[in-house]
Amino acid sequence: MTNKGLFISFEGIDGAGKSTHIDALARAFAAQGKAVTSTREPGGTALAERLRAMILGDPMDPMTEALLVFAARRDHLQQVIEPALKRGEVLLCDRFTDATFAYQGSGRGFDLATLCYLERLVQTVKGTAGDFVRQPDLTVWFDLAPEIAAQRLAGARVPDKFEAQPAAFFQRVSDGYLQRLQADPKRFARIAADQPREAVWQDVLRAFIQRGWLEPKFTSKMTVIADPDPQSMASDSCDNGCCNPGADPGPV
Ligand SMILES: Nc1ncnc2c1ncn2[C@@H]1O[C@H](COP(=O)(O)OP(=O)(O)O)[C@@H](O)[C@H]1O
Ligand SMILES: [Mg+2]
Repeated sequence: MTNKGLFISFEGIDGAGKSTHIDALARAFAAQGKAVTSTREPGGTALAERLRAMILGDPMDPMTEALLVFAARRDHLQQVIEPALKRGEVLLCDRFTDATFAYQGSGRGFDLATLCYLERLVQTVKGTAGDFVRQPDLTVWFDLAPEIAAQRLAGARVPDKFEAQPAAFFQRVSDGYLQRLQADPKRFARIAADQPREAVWQDVLRAFIQRGWLEPKFTSKMTVIADPDPQSMASDSCDNGCCNPGADPGPV
């Protein structure tokens, strides 16, 4: 941990199970008496949610898309992530920069060196011992074959610009996630997301218990939400109250 808070990001292709387990983890940390902020990217602030609507809804070239994603991230870092970490909270973030490398880099073919430059530029923050590049303390990657994700999503929600992409796009996105893991393996927990929900949940819990961040006595009886309310899945609302539901084109 680089601060007294805990910064956790959740990654994986659309339909991999991120929202399902973020909700359950928020309950687990709350049961342990922790203050939790659940947020998402792109989005998480009023400004970034407006950018999200454009990123997910409007056709644009890969560079425009990458710049908007990082602009949204800068605002989100300054307005939500850094303040929550300073307050010592657990910050659960549905996607962060690995998604940009996976979707805009590997998926869309945008230049990875430029993404690395933007990552350093946007995520450099002030610490007590000087500036550093903010990264999650842990990234939970739900690794799922694109065909299985597509089956899970079929009929569950109206696809956005990314969800409507063909399976080959999601295979490139998955490869992009793998490259990010290989570049920084200690930061990642790779979860086999093709198992039944409760088995996935147990693997997720293990990653947190192993690091000493969750205590088994608080989580041993907890289950992941068995069958989320289809209404809430459709809106995928952000829990920190900063989203503009009217502009929300659906989950990424
Ligand atoms: N392990 C699982 N097995 C079967 N269905 C699952 C599993 N995990 C999640 N789902 C379902 O798959 C769909 C996508 O899950 P969700 O958590 O919304 O994924 P994401 O947020 O990664 O797009 C939801 O309908 C969810 O209930
Ligand atoms: Mg989701």
